[in-house]
Amino acid sequence: MRLKDKVAIITGAGMGQGRAAAVKFAKEGAKVVVGDIDAAAGNETVDIIKKAGGDAVFSQCNVGVEEDCAKLVKAAVDSFGKLNVIYNNAGVLWKDKDVSLVDIDMKNWKTITDICLMGSVYTCRHGVPEMKKAGGGSIINIGSISALTGSTIPQDAYNAAKGALIILTKSIAIQFAKDKIRCNIIHPGMINTPMQHKYMQNPQWLKAVLDCIPLGRFGEPEDIANAALFLASDESSFMTGAEMVVDGGFMAT
Ligand SMILES: NC(=O)c1ccc[n+]([C@@H]2O[C@H](COP(=O)([O-])OP(=O)(O)OC[C@H]3O[C@@H](n4cnc5c(N)ncnc54)[C@H](O)[C@@H]3O)[C@@H](O)[C@H]2O)c1
Repeated sequence: MRLKDKVAIITGAGMGQGRAAAVKFAKEGAKVVVGDIDAAAGNETVDIIKKAGGDAVFSQCNVGVEEDCAKLVKAAVDSFGKLNVIYNNAGVLWKDKDVSLVDIDMKNWKTITDICLMGSVYTCRHGVPEMKKAGGGSIINIGSISALTGSTIPQDAYNAAKGALIILTKSIAIQFAKDKIRCNIIHPGMINTPMQHKYMQNPQWLKAVLDCIPLGRFGEPEDIANAALFLASDESSFMTGAEMVVDGGFMAT
């Protein structure tokens, strides 16, 4: 019960890494607010948690919309009385629409930025005051190895948003350390989630990717959830402003 008595918001918890974290956090004693744009997927995560004996509520949100993120924070306080953990997991990888900055439709650039960067701004903007009331907390942002290295096939909006999240993480960590609010960022490598499934159908692509991962496999959603669990728990109480790379060794090569 490493998260006993903690209340956590997890965005994009309807599937993939967010769902794995929601289920794991609840199993470890947290009360979870499942945020997702997809109501069916989000409610399914809540059902899984409840069937396993945990406690969770669903709050529909598009993280790119500030009012939705404010509602997410309100759902935590209204349902469970406080907020201790914000896990900013929601993100989109639209390889077809996210191309070079010289070619991209700027409406797509804005939408990707709203989801992959502004979502974290909005949840923190509304959530930090509640964390202060709770006496502190832990914020976990999800970056990407794409924030650490350029892509041979450009996905400029995604990479720029994820890169900006690194410095936002550090700024939040420094500003609110006095309030016992910690903020760290996880950089997942290639993870076996619905986000990657259609690309994984291409055997040449799959082989090329696997050749770059020393551990020789994609990560599983639970690999990232385990890292997030550590950062959400008091076991990481001396960690803030840090970047955690969980990529099977990809960035080491
Ligand atoms: N899968 C990977 O290989 C990989 C690698 C590096 C980083 N990441 C990052 O990890 C995070 C989770 O990715 P995943 O692989 O689990 O993705 P996924 O596509 O499998 O799941 C993402 C979830 O977010 C939800 N979502 C999408 N847009 C949303 C919005 N505007 N508001 C609220 N919810 C929204 C989706 O409905 C879905 O439930 C993302 O930030 C992603 O960029 C993933």
